[in-house]
Amino acid sequence: MQFPAEPFRIKVVEPLKATTREERVRLLEAAGHNLFKVPADSIYVDLLTDSGTSAMSDRQWAAIMMGDESYAGSRNFFRFEAAVRELTGYHHVIPTHQGRMAENLLFHTVVKPGDSVPNNIHFDTTRANAEQAGAIALDLVVPEGLDPANRSPFKGNMDTARLDRVLAEKKGTVPLVMLTITNNSGGGQPVSMANARATAEVCRRHGVPLFFDACRFAENAWFIQQREEGYANTPVRDIAKAMFALGDGCTMSAKKDGLVNIGGFLALNHEPWADQVKHRLILVEGFPTYGGLAGRDLEAMAQGLEEVTDEHYLAFRIGQVRELAEAVSDAGVPIIQPPGGHAVYLDAKAIAPHIPPHEFPGQAIVVALYRDYGIRTVEIGSFMFGSEDPATGKPIAPPLELVRLAIPRRVYTKAQLAYVAQCVIDVHRKSADLRGFRIRQGAPFLRHFTATLEEVPAPAAAGRVG
Ligand SMILES: Cc1ncc(COP(=O)(O)O)c(C=O)c1O
Repeated sequence: MQFPAEPFRIKVVEPLKATTREERVRLLEAAGHNLFKVPADSIYVDLLTDSGTSAMSDRQWAAIMMGDESYAGSRNFFRFEAAVRELTGYHHVIPTHQGRMAENLLFHTVVKPGDSVPNNIHFDTTRANAEQAGAIALDLVVPEGLDPANRSPFKGNMDTARLDRVLAEKKGTVPLVMLTITNNSGGGQPVSMANARATAEVCRRHGVPLFFDACRFAENAWFIQQREEGYANTPVRDIAKAMFALGDGCTMSAKKDGLVNIGGFLALNHEPWADQVKHRLILVEGFPTYGGLAGRDLEAMAQGLEEVTDEHYLAFRIGQVRELAEAVSDAGVPIIQPPGGHAVYLDAKAIAPHIPPHEFPGQAIVVALYRDYGIRTVEIGSFMFGSEDPATGKPIAPPLELVRLAIPRRVYTKAQLAYVAQCVIDVHRKSADLRGFRIRQGAPFLRHFTATLEEVPAPAAAGRVG
């Protein structure tokens, strides 16, 4: 693996417990083969998510000690507010405990029932909050954004021609347009500056504000510097600022590019909206100078927002994802190309074509990676998003069956990810042995968090049953 080596040294370590295969088999049985139910201290490399799993720096931990826990007017708020204003240029800065609360506050303020909210692709919580406020959530990503084999550099781009048509057809019923940078639900793919500019231009022509879902703004800016003509010599922080300048506000889960374990914010210029949001904030989160967080969390977030645009860090971080992707793909493992900023996505349908979607080929890989190697990943396919035809009861599969390996920021070393690559290659090599799963006990919604599963018996054994 060739990515730049770690641009940090390790000052505090968290020992990892070694488990045996037998222990992991027992843990999986107890968890109903649902990795969300396996205790985290029995996992060697945890790639469940990149959200809230970052390692904070010594400066962030020092910032934690500077917490001013006054109910109102904490000094940490003013540092945080200044940091967000400096980065985004948006005047009103409203802290929240995480990203989805920023979405909830924004949509409940601006959406009227029957309105529409376009986005490149809504992340699940963004969609759920927009819909809960009464909006129709529209995904208008460019067609290549839905093609796993297409290697375009900016597969997160908005289809601006479609956006233009939607804004003309739905005149007066679109309170805002969102642009998710990077596009998580499309594989962490970036949006180009040219596309953000074109999106902003369409919005301006129709008099509709543009908001960024900015969780991974620094990773997006890094891709622009690396891939978009004219930006090779522009500092990442300037690229990020130029992108924010195209919009009217943003929602942010600082659990990603804020490099903190908890935190988020809403930032915007429109004063009447900001006032309404703050009234609701007091009802559901807390006073506007802490918004559901401790003062120390605000201080750590302000520090994280500065560190995240460090280009040595970004070269390492995105390089780590890219090199893991290259290591497995060079060995023949099918993945979504090109890899995005925060995760590698395995194509489970291609790895285990003998397992039909309703027997969850992705979950078979997830279970194998934990049972044999102690690695936790997550299925994003029929287990997470599958449904049933209400008339026939037949399973309806989503377009892709994926396994996501999300890389926490500054947490795992080159050696640990080399181990992950070897294990993925091994599972692929033995993929004919993988068996499907069926649901033992379901859940009314978001079943992937709580449902339990059992392995489908091997065909010969199945023949003997009964
Ligand atoms: C693009 C995007 N938007 C919003 C969110 C929601 O953020 P949070 O989990 O902090 O509520 C996420 C979280 O993964 C995300 O990836």
